[in-house]
Amino acid sequence: MDRRRFAIRTYGCQMNVHDSEKVANLLHHAGLDAADEAEADVLVVNTCSIRDKAEQRLYTDLGLLRAWKAERPGRLVGVGGCVAQQQGDAILERFPQVDFVFGTHNLRFVPAMVAEAARGQRSARTEETRDLDRFDLPQRHPAYASPSPGRAFVTVMEGCDLYCTFCIVPQTRGREISRPADDIVAEAQTLADEGVCEITLLGQTVNAYGRHDLRRDRADRAGTVAFAELLRRLDRIPGLERIRYTSPHPIFFDAALVRAHGELEHLCPHVHLPLQSGSDAILERMRRRYDRESFLGIAQALRRARPDLTLTSDLIVGFPGESEADLQATLDTVEQAGFADSYSFKYSPRPGTKAAQEPGQIDPGVAQDRLERLQALQRRLTLAYHRSRVGERTEILIEGPSARARRGGPAQVAGRDPHQRVVNLAVRVAGDAPIPQPGERVPVEIVDATPHSLLGTQIPLRAVKTAAGSADEDLRNAVLSVSGPGSL
Ligand code: SAH
Ligand code: F3S
Repeated sequence: MDRRRFAIRTYGCQMNVHDSEKVANLLHHAGLDAADEAEADVLVVNTCSIRDKAEQRLYTDLGLLRAWKAERPGRLVGVGGCVAQQQGDAILERFPQVDFVFGTHNLRFVPAMVAEAARGQRSARTEETRDLDRFDLPQRHPAYASPSPGRAFVTVMEGCDLYCTFCIVPQTRGREISRPADDIVAEAQTLADEGVCEITLLGQTVNAYGRHDLRRDRADRAGTVAFAELLRRLDRIPGLERIRYTSPHPIFFDAALVRAHGELEHLCPHVHLPLQSGSDAILERMRRRYDRESFLGIAQALRRARPDLTLTSDLIVGFPGESEADLQATLDTVEQAGFADSYSFKYSPRPGTKAAQEPGQIDPGVAQDRLERLQALQRRLTLAYHRSRVGERTEILIEGPSARARRGGPAQVAGRDPHQRVVNLAVRVAGDAPIPQPGERVPVEIVDATPHSLLGTQIPLRAVKTAAGSADEDLRNAVLSVSGPGSL
């Protein structure tokens, strides 16, 4: 009999993307192969419930998947992620086309649930656990290891104990729990040995890593260390050129973490620092535990430690009771903080959160107008930031064809620079110059800027000076190591 095939649809944050990689590895080790949905026997939908729109997608998808299932007998549908964690059995009851449901702490049971479902037994597993086993992954298969070649996610902690009043995450991801540092370092080392040069450390409040263990004086027993110390250990791993982490919470930037940004060679000059609102009154009611001034203080301290640091953020407009003056405070703070980019959202009431019960819910039209004003400001700031980068030399890690090339535009590849900006690079399809491949690191000069991305040109080898010890020397070595001497 042919090997069975699976496909996974992923919605939501990077944690979900990584969870889908974990599920793919588990299914691979259980003898299934990845396939397109049209070919698949098992389809897993990994869901998100951060805003209502995200949750509604699951219900739309499940409606459509009835037809997918009916096309071939024996097909199975599984639902995982944050909606699954919250709804559990209710999904099985409401949607007869669903065969299994697994919560955010139950990934490792997926192969067994698939086997049971194949025997006609439907099941839902959503129990929460503090067992560290839930972090254990079977060995990563290269096909299911990373979002693009050369990059990988590494979970360092999960859960959130902060309970911002708008946020459903503490209910869908459970309590904070941190992995032992040795396990994280060993995983990063294995990835580096396999050719990964960029890792992104993941956690819902990633820089809360180990904080409970330190505070309760049990870090030794738990095997955790301070987050800055973890970064320091990872920075020493040969081959890891870029270290990122997401998403941090502003209150967990202690002096050591700020210092790390100035000291660690491989820690990228980019921090995603969610502000949410610039109004002290709203921040208080969101229970964010900082005010505008302390947020700007953290931003300034980080920039002092690393002057070329790029900051990005998350913002919410239309939180209950938000006034025009509150919105103005957000616009002012965004401008002062100088975010190079941000994700901005209209507040979406999540059932079971504190803010959903508050009076003063904002009219959707007003919220939409505020969102547009905020996004117009951000476009202006992003363009100004991108323009400030023109003329700079940097290095990009190639991900694949650029968005424009995928739409049939010019021949371009796209990569990310250390600041996490998208840089498009024109490639010559004729001649013998090789096209940079996903996973390659390529030195570029930034030559143009748009509101969405930067445009770069590959720095030709002959233009690179070779004075010993200069930055150009490093650049030249990078060229040689990524492309081979004959390729430019
Ligand atoms: N600590 C996590 C938060 C995840 S949610 C992280 O930083 O990644 C990602 C973003 O979604 C939040 O920062 C917030 O801006 C937005 N968000 C969360 N709940 C929301 C809600 N109820 N309505 C609108 N946006 C929300
Ligand atoms: Fe959500 Fe606030 Fe935690 S945004 S993930 S409750 S830090």
